[in-house]
Amino acid sequence: MTRLKHSEHGALRPGRAAVAGDAPWWKEAVVYQIYPRSFCDSNGDGVGDLEGIRRRLDHLAWLGVDALWISPFFRSPMKDFGYDVADYCDVDPVFGTLGDFDRLLQDAHARGLRVLIDWVPNHTSDRHPWFIESRTSRRSPWRDWYVWRDGSPDRPPNNWLAAFDGAPAWTWDEPTRQWYLHLFLPEQPDLNWAHPAVVTAMHDTLRFWLDRGVDGFRMDVIHGIGKDPALPDHPPELESVWHCAVNDDPRTHELIRGIRRVLEEYPGGRMMVGEVFLLDTGAVAPYYGHGDELHLAFNFPPLFEPWEAPAWRRSIDRVTAELGPRDAWPSWVLSNHDNRRHRTRYGSEERARAAAVLLLTLRGTPFLYAGEELGLEDAVVPADRTRDPGGRDGCRAPIPWDGSACHGWPVDDPWLPWPPMAERRNVAALREDESSILHLYRRTLAARRGSLALRLGELLPLPGPPGVLAYEREHLGDQRIVLINFAAEPASFALPGEWAVEVASDGRGEGGRWTDRLGAEQAVVLCPLERGQLERGR
Ligand code: NOJ
Repeated sequence: MTRLKHSEHGALRPGRAAVAGDAPWWKEAVVYQIYPRSFCDSNGDGVGDLEGIRRRLDHLAWLGVDALWISPFFRSPMKDFGYDVADYCDVDPVFGTLGDFDRLLQDAHARGLRVLIDWVPNHTSDRHPWFIESRTSRRSPWRDWYVWRDGSPDRPPNNWLAAFDGAPAWTWDEPTRQWYLHLFLPEQPDLNWAHPAVVTAMHDTLRFWLDRGVDGFRMDVIHGIGKDPALPDHPPELESVWHCAVNDDPRTHELIRGIRRVLEEYPGGRMMVGEVFLLDTGAVAPYYGHGDELHLAFNFPPLFEPWEAPAWRRSIDRVTAELGPRDAWPSWVLSNHDNRRHRTRYGSEERARAAAVLLLTLRGTPFLYAGEELGLEDAVVPADRTRDPGGRDGCRAPIPWDGSACHGWPVDDPWLPWPPMAERRNVAALREDESSILHLYRRTLAARRGSLALRLGELLPLPGPPGVLAYEREHLGDQRIVLINFAAEPASFALPGEWAVEVASDGRGEGGRWTDRLGAEQAVVLCPLERGQLERGR
């Protein structure tokens, strides 16, 4: 992997030309998402913080990821736990200070880890000074920074629905007798990106963090920022769909190009990955533009697929068909802070292990969600401990660092309950056990790092028995074959030539010659067998 050094602006950039011909860093990277409330608590308030993340950077360096994405830590009333921003340019006291952020960034960079932060452009908090001003009067200079519409108090301006409860996406403001738009909670009013002052102010919030040296941004519901000013009703067949899942207005593309130009003012390959929550890969693809919009876009349809070979084959084919002609680089994600963890969805550790091999060997940039390397399941959160208005607490349970009662936290009852089996499924215990899923992640990440084919290669689907997903990766003469058995029965898979098992999801056969036999729910990465390789591997 390319060695890294600091640019004069603090962001990381390659220290020497990448072997593959200068691919941008984010194509070869594996990104690790941290939900800061749940990662590590340094001050004993039961909520994780930036200093906590800094203290655990060695875990990430040991694991072998390349970059972190930290979910929002800005000043916020926490109605949506940070996705309701009251000040884009400061750290909420629950997470620490700007000084803590600078130390975290510096220490991450010192370990060769890049840092992406989570920028929330579609909406602010209703406690943001811009909205407080906007709300004061129809004549406020900030009025048009948000989306206000006339109407009568008993009839919202259109039939759009908000996440998370499907209530109208409009709230009536009695003092000024108008409605304001919010695709999420009423406490998250939508910004009006048609207003040039909003564009300028939001660009400046990007520059604030770029100047501090961040390597890029995860951009929250970025497809929402451009809106049809006519605000047309959803057609009947989409009446019950949240508007955030269908807003797909052409105006957004020019806005994203403007944001891209801000990033390009800076050296060091600053990047943006956009959350495009449109559940069709064909609709996501245009958000890459022509190399002038998003560097990466999340593509969620595969996350919602069942753990079945044909479904995954179709997803992969669709990504190739939609992104290929644009020369757009895919991204892959199985878990995040908004959805049940894939360990929970797929139902067993065997499947979670096979899924790890899949995620880390597909063509594109993988995003891991903190705790998946421990095989964590969602916490069971009793009704009296639920916190999230969107019902997403289970996947946000705190990370257990060791087997003690407090699991490495300063308190034994953090803001959410522990995930299941934390006494065994914790970082310290799994590090001790070389057969653990944690070591599988580490070995697969190392295999990826060591293989040009896995990092940058083309993906060629291979025919195989039903229940087995097979593909080849190849780049500049480097070659790997990946076999994923989704079925509960073993399968045979003969290959021309001789192959060695570089990684096996259950460890069986790893380091040995490929024998054509794939275990039930086993996934393997194979590399061409070279003379002496097996002896060296032993
Ligand atoms: C998507 C984020 O991932 C989610 O957590 C948040 O609630 C919404 N956007 C609103 O910001």
